Amino acid sequence: MTTFTKLDDGDQPGIFVYPSHKLSKINDNVYSGFTEHMGRCIYGGLYDPSNPNMHLIDDNGFRIDVIEAFKELSVPVVRYPGGNFVATYHWLDGVGPRDQRPKRAELAWLGVETNEVGTDEFMKWCEVVGTEPYLALNFGTGTLDEALGWLEYCNSEQDTHYANLRRKHGREKPYNVKYWALGNECWGPWQVEQMTKEDYAKKAYQWAKALKMQDPSITLILCGENGVSHWDFHVLTQCLKPDVHALGGSATKSLIDMHSIHMYTAAKDPITNALAPRLAERSIEICAGLIDLARQVNQVPATVPAPTICFDEWNVWDPARAPGETGAEEQYTLSDALAVAVWLNVFVRQSKYIGMANIAQSVNVISPLMTHANGLVKQTTWWPLLLFSKYMRGSTVAAHVSCPTASGSEHAWLDASAAMGDDGWVSLVVVNVHPSETFDITVQGVQTSAAEVEKYVITGESWQATNTETDQAVKIHENKWGGKGPCSFAKMSMTMLRWKPSGGA
Ligand code: AHR
Repeated sequence: MTTFTKLDDGDQPGIFVYPSHKLSKINDNVYSGFTEHMGRCIYGGLYDPSNPNMHLIDDNGFRIDVIEAFKELSVPVVRYPGGNFVATYHWLDGVGPRDQRPKRAELAWLGVETNEVGTDEFMKWCEVVGTEPYLALNFGTGTLDEALGWLEYCNSEQDTHYANLRRKHGREKPYNVKYWALGNECWGPWQVEQMTKEDYAKKAYQWAKALKMQDPSITLILCGENGVSHWDFHVLTQCLKPDVHALGGSATKSLIDMHSIHMYTAAKDPITNALAPRLAERSIEICAGLIDLARQVNQVPATVPAPTICFDEWNVWDPARAPGETGAEEQYTLSDALAVAVWLNVFVRQSKYIGMANIAQSVNVISPLMTHANGLVKQTTWWPLLLFSKYMRGSTVAAHVSCPTASGSEHAWLDASAAMGDDGWVSLVVVNVHPSETFDITVQGVQTSAAEVEKYVITGESWQATNTETDQAVKIHENKWGGKGPCSFAKMSMTMLRWKPSGGA
């Protein structure tokens, strides 16, 4: 949580950090990713065996540079295989000998799915990267039988058909996939088999029961909408019931562990665009309230852990500018980089409620990372993601901002969050979306015996600055600040300050 005081234009802004006031743990899974069979995400992104630059490709056909980038970001969990794609995906098409896998017409993005990459390849890729898989189930054309079969294939040690099929395909040990989504955006008119909230809730509850009967150790994620809709409240009240018969293996746990919500932001005006993710903050707060309310209505005992929010698709995306059917290859600007920084500030501020967040997506499709035949481009949005993932871990700490708002709006020019890592370092992020004013501000609460505070600034020459194969116009500038007196927060920038408090803060 960051509190805010609105000042008049010309008043001196202030930033206050309270490192001794830890508010809540930041779940590492906030820095998770998402890879969908869409555009060049899987084929050409993760997997690129026909690339003539063989030094970029490993023995599995995976892009080495992409693997290294995921490692650099320490991405903890990656969602797969969709997205809208999953509504017609039959996992059995994607296992076994490659030359026998069927090619299928793909209805979400109107392409052809070759099934060259399927479950075993994705699991292998996760192992190489050192990340955990998160699988979404087909709630469109898929059946519960198929879903149970997939769970058995991935997680079972028994002597049963699908576990044996996995063994036959060369994998003795189960993959132990923990995260499973009960469909994706089933409310959307674009879905193959769009559902009513009533139909979805009924089906999701029955599937949840069966899936947990088969493997009570899994984490099940309910398909919400944006956190504030009738759909969200209905599915929560229908599915967050007390599990008195221990159908999920234990009466002390919920059948549903997380509630998924999605949101993409974008606006033509660069300031509005950079600040648009603040809308997500209201969604998270309201959604957390709906979860509470559903539990109250259903008299779920307080001892049963409340589901957390799984924000498993978030990013800057304008589908009119970068349509899904043509691969959704957004070229991100400085304004978009600051929007991503504000998105991440929101997740840090709301860490109490967030169990996972997945940038959508992780390679080529609306992504901070773009591949080309000879290497990678790190888009503008890569840099805030990298700084947050490296340093904004541990616990959210209290912070306060006082500053003027953009004229004619209630939008504060500055957006901030603060965290204390398990190593005791404090990190403060301040995004300044003012187009022309650098704010020189005394930061209260910086107490350190170190002579200097680390300072990282992400900025560029103009709102429209982008990164290309030849030019990193937006990147991190490393610097130091004395820790006393005013600190400069440049116009159109994200600044991160880092220090180790002296004397227990
Ligand atoms: O991430 C792109 C698409 O956006 C996903 O497939 C879908 O879930 C959402 O509408």
